Amino acid sequence: MRLRSTLTASAVLAAAVLVLAGNAAVAAPARHEAEASPAVCTGTIDSNHAGFSGSGFCNADNAVGAAAQFTVSASTAGTATLGVRFANGTTTARPADVLVNGVRATGATFAGTGAWTTWVTLTLTVPVNSGGNTIRFSPTTAGGLPNIDYLDVEVTGGAVGGNGQPTDQNIQYYGRWNRSNASWYAMGWAGGYLDARFTGSSIGVRQRNAIDLYYSIDGAPLQWRRNVSGNVTLATGLPGGSHTVRIGYRERAGSYTGDPVFGGLVLAGGAQTAPVGRPTNFVEFIGDSITVGQPNANRPFTAYPWLVAEALGAGHSQVAQGGACLVSQDCYGMMDWFRRSSGSATYDDWNFSTYQATAVVINLGTNDIGHGVSTAQFQQGYVVMLERVRQAYPDAQIFAMGVFRNRYVPETRNAVAARTAAGDSRVHFVDTAGWIDPAVDTTDNVHPTDAGHAKIAQRLRPILDQYI
Ligand code: GCU
Ligand code: CA
Repeated sequence: MRLRSTLTASAVLAAAVLVLAGNAAVAAPARHEAEASPAVCTGTIDSNHAGFSGSGFCNADNAVGAAAQFTVSASTAGTATLGVRFANGTTTARPADVLVNGVRATGATFAGTGAWTTWVTLTLTVPVNSGGNTIRFSPTTAGGLPNIDYLDVEVTGGAVGGNGQPTDQNIQYYGRWNRSNASWYAMGWAGGYLDARFTGSSIGVRQRNAIDLYYSIDGAPLQWRRNVSGNVTLATGLPGGSHTVRIGYRERAGSYTGDPVFGGLVLAGGAQTAPVGRPTNFVEFIGDSITVGQPNANRPFTAYPWLVAEALGAGHSQVAQGGACLVSQDCYGMMDWFRRSSGSATYDDWNFSTYQATAVVINLGTNDIGHGVSTAQFQQGYVVMLERVRQAYPDAQIFAMGVFRNRYVPETRNAVAARTAAGDSRVHFVDTAGWIDPAVDTTDNVHPTDAGHAKIAQRLRPILDQYI
């Protein structure tokens, strides 16, 4: 049924294009060979199984995270029909996530094809941005991917209007959102937000229980609506055309029990959402209260993670919690907890294929001292943390900041050196000595003021900029 209506719709579209273009032929889908740069294959380009097109195919390593990635360009934002040609000579299907610009768009199941020389094409539909897009096939089981020959891409429609519900594909989410309840997407940790484009003269957001939310329309400075619930009107009387909105929430932590969930946009009558751009870079910051930006009233958006990433034009999140440590010794040890969707999740529930960070910045060690973590334990734990972040984000540049209070700094540096010696070429120690003066730039010798955060951001930005 679905296939039939898709075919009908594209047939209608093709007919329309033909009418408009006179006798011109309808453009064939653009073919992207897996062996041709800038395509990426985490494995080898092989040519030992006949029937492939071009000069070879991607034989990705049989492991989770060993991916095949294509770079495709679209003349307009909209929906792309993908034809991925593959062979799977086993009898076991190989499942994968399909990430567009680092964000999971859909799943794909590569069934057995009977032989490694039997190639078939799987058709999928994903949203794309106008301009360049990465499309990444990331296996979800240790069997890995099938052999992948090429990707055909055809942008089949212009902007598809959405209804503003949490499940609306036009809404771009940043950070750890728990989507298990389709009516209420829950923001985990701190600094999560969403962007949307919409038509109509007004915009609002549907909330559940009381929450402090911040928002911006058309890139204006962020502003707060504190302690709101139900349908919250954010703007009325907007001029014609489309507008953008960003919405984020105060983090639920400590004694603050607000309800940071997104229940959908409240659109004007007849209005719709439209695709909105998503930067190719995403920086995940992992840390404690300093990374959250506590106790400053305008956190998360006055804290250095937000400032740095915005200055770099990147998406971002603050996977951080006040009091957090590196090591789980009577403390939220982020070497374990960063695998969760929030500080209240009860198991390692986060699926790292939901998005891939291009950079991860770790700022941990301020609190471990109060929990009796020895320097040896810290260093060992930090190595494990760096290994786990690498596993979660195979391509990311990883930055380990020496903490501002000068605790465990040699151990942090040594852990980075150990990982570099082990062959990880994308992990960097960040020496923060002298970046801030505790007497001037903090509220209590520990937590930076807004001005202190700005100073940190100014120092960190050029370091990240060298690598992403
Ligand atoms: C065989 C086959 C490869 C394939 C691999 C796999 O080794 O020759 O082309 O990639 O199996 O199971 O992934
Ligand atoms: Ca393989």
